Amino acid sequence: MKKIILYYGLFTAMLAMFLVYQGCSELDNSVTMAPDIDTHGDGWANPSSNNFHGKYIASTKWNLNQCKTCHGGDYTGGTAGSSCLGCHSGSGGPQNCRLCHGGPGGANPPKALNGDTSVTSLGVGVHASHRNPQFSASVSCEGCHQDFDGFDDPLHIGPNADGIAEIVFGPLAYDTINGPIRPNPTWDRNAATCSNAYCHGTFKEGNVNAVGVWTNPNSVVCGTCHGDPVTGNPTPRTNNIFTEPHYSFMTITSCYVCHGSVINGQGQITNKDLHVNGELNY
Ligand code: HEC
Ligand code: HEC
Ligand code: HEC
Ligand code: HEC
Ligand code: HEC
Ligand code: HEC
Repeated sequence: MKKIILYYGLFTAMLAMFLVYQGCSELDNSVTMAPDIDTHGDGWANPSSNNFHGKYIASTKWNLNQCKTCHGGDYTGGTAGSSCLGCHSGSGGPQNCRLCHGGPGGANPPKALNGDTSVTSLGVGVHASHRNPQFSASVSCEGCHQDFDGFDDPLHIGPNADGIAEIVFGPLAYDTINGPIRPNPTWDRNAATCSNAYCHGTFKEGNVNAVGVWTNPNSVVCGTCHGDPVTGNPTPRTNNIFTEPHYSFMTITSCYVCHGSVINGQGQITNKDLHVNGELNY
């Protein structure tokens, strides 16, 4: 009887060891784990499914490395034998600059990362007005974002991706036109405002307290950055006091007399490259 119990005990112990060993080896063989059973599950390639891979990637903060382990570093198929490039045929494949944000007009929103396209959405805002402005030259991405070198640069999405773009102002926002006023451009995400920036009025006889509201295109008109924001008359003044060579009788149609390289007699900015370029042209 004792013998039987002993044998039985030994057998159970060996079986247990065997199972543990099996478990370990199984873990060893699956360092990479599929995000879902049955490789990916139903709907993985269907944009209207909750299991769509685009939604899954967004929920993991756009980490494409998890896909490269099976689909290959260049997305051509890898061990999965299933290429991403058949559907994502644009340059860069799934790293194409217009896939997760932006669209035909460029990599800047709209569309935002969450799919929003309305200017009232923080991720969209007035990108379009800065990329294709009414009164000045186009502002480059580096005017407001860190300059980075390609998709994989840590300054792009970064190791601690939070899905929120960093605002780092370029040199124009700090310009002084050799005057005494030092801009200190500040992005306030809660208020969605940009303040203390050279481009929006922080210069001699500019409206140093002017703010641009990122989600309201009508928050900046002629007269917001210099002049009278209410009437829209752009003649520079400080606390409503005019100093030579600008006088209270001047209107938008007077500027061309001295600033003719920038503006015409009808008050139209004729050379956008010379307006809000960090230099006074007269
Ligand atoms: C563990 C390995 C593995 C990982 C990790 C993996 N895949 Fe796959 N994937 C496969 C295999 C194998 C197939 C082909 C068989 C299949 O369709 O189930 C496949 C197929 C696909 C397909 C084609 C589905 C279809 O129906 O045409 C897409 C799209 C896809 N994967 C996207 C992704 C994305 C996006 C990621 C990263 C979030 C990813 N995969 C991560 C193994 C993997
Ligand atoms: C069967 C076609 C198909 C295949 C294969 C495929 N995708 Fe997609 N993927 C799509 C479609 C469709 C969209 C949605 C496109 C859009 O929103 O413009 C999309 C969207 C995405 C997005 C955007 C997510 C976002 O937040 O907008 C990423 C990233 C992506 N796919 C990665 C991959 C990767 C990585 C692979 C390969 C592992 C892959 N896709 C394979 C069809 C495919
Ligand atoms: C797979 C999705 C995806 C693709 C593809 C992609 N981006 Fe992004 N991008 C993001 C995310 C997510 C952020 C927000 C960054 C964060 O979380 O810090 C971002 C932010 C940015 C920003 C704001 C700068 C910043 O520091 O946050 C710029 C500019 C940008 N991307 C340009 C590009 C360019 C250029 C490409 C093509 C080389 C590209 N993106 C491709 C997901 C993507
Ligand atoms: C005038 C300043 C400005 C310029 C120029 C600018 N951006 Fe932005 N960008 C912003 C602001 C402000 C946000 C919102 C940041 C936040 O959410 O806190 C933003 C957000 C983003 C986001 C994240 C969108 C989201 O859904 O959250 C991306 C991506 C982006 N910008 C890309 C670009 C690219 C690409 C360019 C150049 C083609 C560009 N931006 C030019 C100010 C700018
Ligand atoms: C009689 C010539 C003259 C006219 C007309 C004129 N400006 Fe000027 N403007 C100047 C000169 C000269 C400077 C440089 C002043 C300085 O360095 O202090 C200047 C400077 C400026 C500046 C920089 C801020 C400052 O005060 O130094 C702005 C902005 C400006 N002008 C806008 C305008 C606008 C808008 C109009 C039309 C409403 C206009 N100017 C009409 C001659 C003129
Ligand atoms: C977003 C802020 C902003 C708005 C809006 C704006 N300006 Fe200016 N303006 C500036 C800045 C900054 C300067 C300082 C010189 C420079 O950098 O070009 C300036 C300078 C000028 C000058 C002097 C010439 C020069 O050197 O550029 C004239 C004239 C002028 N603005 C006219 C106008 C008129 C007319 C409007 C409306 C149609 C207008 N501005 C709207 C920011 C603005």
